[in-house]
Amino acid sequence: MTAPSAPTPFATDRAPAGEAPTGHDGPARPLVAHPATTALAGTIAVPGDKSISHRALMFGALAVGETVVEGLLEGADVLATAAAMRALGARVERRAGRWHVNGVGVGGLAEPEDVLDMGNAGTAARLIAGLLATHPLTAFVTGDASLRKRPMGRVREPLERFGARFVLRHGDRLPAAIIGAENSVPVSYTLPVASAQVKSAVLLAGLNTPGETVVVEPKATRDHTETMLQAFGAEVRVEKAGKGRRIALTGQPELKPVAIAVPGDPSSAAFPAVAAAICRGSQVAIRRVGLNSLRTGLYDCLQEMGAHIEITDRRTEGGEPVGTIHVQGSRLKGIQVPPERVPAMIDEFPILAVAAACAEGETRITGAMELRVKESDRIGAMAAGLRAAGVAVKELPDGMIVTGTGRPPPGGATIATHLDHRIAMAFLVLGLASAAPVTIDDGAMIDTSFPGFAGLMRGLGARIEVA
Ligand code: S3P
Repeated sequence: MTAPSAPTPFATDRAPAGEAPTGHDGPARPLVAHPATTALAGTIAVPGDKSISHRALMFGALAVGETVVEGLLEGADVLATAAAMRALGARVERRAGRWHVNGVGVGGLAEPEDVLDMGNAGTAARLIAGLLATHPLTAFVTGDASLRKRPMGRVREPLERFGARFVLRHGDRLPAAIIGAENSVPVSYTLPVASAQVKSAVLLAGLNTPGETVVVEPKATRDHTETMLQAFGAEVRVEKAGKGRRIALTGQPELKPVAIAVPGDPSSAAFPAVAAAICRGSQVAIRRVGLNSLRTGLYDCLQEMGAHIEITDRRTEGGEPVGTIHVQGSRLKGIQVPPERVPAMIDEFPILAVAAACAEGETRITGAMELRVKESDRIGAMAAGLRAAGVAVKELPDGMIVTGTGRPPPGGATIATHLDHRIAMAFLVLGLASAAPVTIDDGAMIDTSFPGFAGLMRGLGARIEVA
């Protein structure tokens, strides 16, 4: 089967024809952000939610019948999931802007003929490992240079309890060989780290396992797997357990296809939102953004920092709250981020650190050790980049302290992005509010989660150009 080409709605900053579109195999694309001379203004929509998009394709591939997905994120990470679902036997097609997934039923995945290359996508790699673990097949999984550095032992450990076998490089890294269990047994697992990816991997392994699979999470993490599986007809019971949750899934359901409208990604909206907050006089509205409270910690922080943020048009779409986020240029002050808020903004720390660099006073981030194992070591990458741009920053083992002056940071640096889309976008936003331009060494990875980012920002009045 061949992959249909997947045009993106915003084509302005994609690789020129003939170059690899995914970033990780193609040439580096340095970009520069110039200090904003006029306020940012306009109403925009950001691409679809990455977490929901991965799950829509995976659950559609396990349903019996056709799942139709509107607003799927057509970024490289999700396209890697689409290709993997095809390789496992599902029919996945893009027609007239919608994605159609014809599933094979729980237990029906076929052994892939070739290595599954998940590119830069940690979520896809971990969740697919869960699916493979309880199908009687052998599969090989790899990823790009960033993904091959990220820990996989965290899913290997619970998934082997179902009866699967993993062979991982250095016991913890991709590439991996996964030999799925012939007769899997249900598992009860307490997460050692707050991770929606690990929770989801265990629940997905539980799908093709008879009996009840239980996951206990000490802190609540994004719950898209639970709510979407319920919508597909699975029996998933969620109870409070201390500060976290206990999730119980009854195995071997028949999943029924559903129509999915993917909301805008709050993690992508975070970049124009902070850009508006730190550029004087700005007025930006972002339509139809997902507002699941397990995802919106950044917006709570920005309000505590003094940002003028208003949310209108609140409604529920496909089981998820959505709304329009309005942000005005504001004078920000430093805050202490409550450590219990970390899971609800785990992907937003790079851009929060940029807001902190433009705020007056100290912003203290702690309890965020997980940032060290994201697409890059985000604590190290942000601290080094901010320092290069003239910002006072102290690196902590589990966070950082950023001290802003309330005036534009100096800027005037070239930042190493370490194959990390969010580091790339965060420093371009910093450049808009700095005294001198900020250059990033490679903007190609932005396409993994936010195709069209630079074009969309230019539409608001930002000067982001090829360096
Ligand atoms: C995700 C979970 C988070 C997040 C990632 C997406 C998901 O990872 O950082 O971008 O869709 O489940 P962890 O669960 O490892 O924190």
